[in-house]
Amino acid sequence: MHCTRNITDAITWVGGNDRRLALFENLFPIPRGVSYNSYLIMDEKTALIDTADAAITRQFIENVTHTLAGRSLDYLVVNHMEPDHCANIDELMLRYPDLKIVGNAKTFGLIQQFYGMDLQGRTIAVKENDALPLGKHTLRFYFAPMVHWPEVMVTYEESEKILFSADAFGSFGAINGNLFDDEIDFDRDWIADARRYYTNIVGKYGPQVQAALKKLSGLEIRTICPLHGPIWRSDLGYLLNKYDRWSRYEPEERTVAIFYCSMYGDTENAADILAAQLAEAGIKNIGVYDVSSTHVSTLIAEAFRCSHLVLAAPTYNNGIYPAMMNLLHDMKALNLQNRTIGLIENGSWAPSCAKNMRALLDEMKNMQVLEPVVTLKSSLNDASQESLMQLKDAILSSLASKE
Ligand code: FEO
Repeated sequence: MHCTRNITDAITWVGGNDRRLALFENLFPIPRGVSYNSYLIMDEKTALIDTADAAITRQFIENVTHTLAGRSLDYLVVNHMEPDHCANIDELMLRYPDLKIVGNAKTFGLIQQFYGMDLQGRTIAVKENDALPLGKHTLRFYFAPMVHWPEVMVTYEESEKILFSADAFGSFGAINGNLFDDEIDFDRDWIADARRYYTNIVGKYGPQVQAALKKLSGLEIRTICPLHGPIWRSDLGYLLNKYDRWSRYEPEERTVAIFYCSMYGDTENAADILAAQLAEAGIKNIGVYDVSSTHVSTLIAEAFRCSHLVLAAPTYNNGIYPAMMNLLHDMKALNLQNRTIGLIENGSWAPSCAKNMRALLDEMKNMQVLEPVVTLKSSLNDASQESLMQLKDAILSSLASKE
């Protein structure tokens, strides 16, 4: 049976959920599942905006055929050619022989690469700002390269002022019946997954997201329909503000995330003491994470949330403890910048982790390392405790200075 939601009288959500997939892109844990959103517009012409992942083909096709109610499908707009949204192009082409695929030159190149389809006579190539009339509805196309892949475009429906935004404004998490932002408590239940989705999937491309936001700022947008997660029709400003901050690499909060690695609990002890002392001084929403047992995508999301990061790790093979090395690699790969950093190292005979962490931070933009760097020789002693309290004071002073 079909499983759809009406967005307006003429536009229907025909997507679906996957709660079985353990790792999105075989990389990111998604304990709350993921949705693949697809939208069908019924007018004099019928148009589908993107398809869905192969995992939900059966439900997706049922949704599309039910909503079409015996009509044919005229257009398939491919805003994004990543297979989580494109796995059903061939099925639709077979079912609807007159179907035209709407995309750009890069879209069609990727269709060929992934699926090797014969698209002869089946394509409509659009350029920036081109329009496609459907009857009362008109689609207009704006390119948004590298949000998240080079072929990405977004589609604006002019009569109902709906932006079909591709991956932008999406989130991990399956749709639990409630599809719209005013049907859920996004700030309580969804923001962590939305942040983790943005920062890890699109985080590297902040300048391109800024360019897209600027390009779209002239449009009157009433509804945002992304390819994953809830649809935005009530509090668009909430999400636009988050995207603006994330893509400028500006923290959401002036607070501290402490990322520690600890082989026998001594570095963890220093992290906990620092967190408690910061809390005693009034700092709220502090995060403390065991880097070895927390997925790096969660750490990245927290690094985007917080203004101050403390990296605490043992020396290992005369270098950086491997789990911390992995976090630093991702921070650089995702272009994280503009953070204030505290460093804590441990080393029982030749501590060198902090020096090596600082060298990697120096390769990132505008990462300010506070003094002192705290060195533990195996475990905290009077001298290192004193140094830890000095770091605490430096963090507090830095947090206060920019308020
Ligand atoms: Fe949801 Fe970039 O694909």
